[in-house]
Amino acid sequence: PLVSMKEMLDKAKAEGYAVGQYNLNNLEFTQAILQAAEEEQSPLICGVSEGAARYMGGFKPVVDMVKTLMEAYNVTVPVAIHLDHGSSFEKCVEAIHAGFTSVMIDGSHYPLAENIALTKRVVDVAHAVGVSVEAELGRIGGQEDDLIVDDAEAAYAIPEECEELVRETNVDCFAPALGSVHGPYKGEPNLGFDHMKKISGLVGVPLVLHGGTGIPTKDIQKAIGYGHAKINVNTESQIASAKAVREVLDEKPELYDPRKYMGPARDAIKETVKGKMREFGSSNKA
Ligand code: G3H
Ligand code: ZN
Repeated sequence: PLVSMKEMLDKAKAEGYAVGQYNLNNLEFTQAILQAAEEEQSPLICGVSEGAARYMGGFKPVVDMVKTLMEAYNVTVPVAIHLDHGSSFEKCVEAIHAGFTSVMIDGSHYPLAENIALTKRVVDVAHAVGVSVEAELGRIGGQEDDLIVDDAEAAYAIPEECEELVRETNVDCFAPALGSVHGPYKGEPNLGFDHMKKISGLVGVPLVLHGGTGIPTKDIQKAIGYGHAKINVNTESQIASAKAVREVLDEKPELYDPRKYMGPARDAIKETVKGKMREFGSSNKA
């Protein structure tokens, strides 16, 4: 069934695992991710950025595609459709109207008071219709679609500010920037575990780790131990998909039927996502 993130994240936090957010980019990503979740019997968060929604024709086509594939595949596990890095109140409302069950409002580039005010407005409308909300503080480095934060701009979240934002807004989960990066890492990631521990204790709600691609398993486990119940993965599935397409076309340059190269890409995405579900501990938790 389509659900908000609220229950699945509270359960994950209580039981010490994390639910993955896997980003949708096209039909094959959606198929692969839904099938991976059902085969692993894992709860699932489908992440949709504004850029990816635009690519797929808009919020409504994405919701319809997810719903109709869930029916076609007899998906029984809980699935949330979540707006990733929502850029404005209006975009969040638009996503909710289209049938998203969860939204992120990313006010991290605003001063604290404005971020709180904006997040609060989104929570008011979202909670009225049973939609969950994620907020962000600090600045996560790297690039994802329209969102580009260079190294100098990237900043750790301040624990006291996190406490204030979560208390004032009543968000369901919270993403503090703690050194993780969107896209591939340059070298080893350096996560701020001291801050993480402090923030988790102060805010109470499940934490969200953005930039999940390329974080070593031991750090993933530590982050889960410090209250992370949601981990976002996009780049790793994209890399696996691109690699599969390249391999097939390198080997058979005469191929032109998209099913012949997108099929293997879809298999590669599915295997990547299944691996993450096992790593995050969400397999058999549906
Ligand atoms: O919001 C989406 C994720 O944070 C993507 O992270 O680029 O490391 O896969 P990633
Ligand atoms: Zn992100």
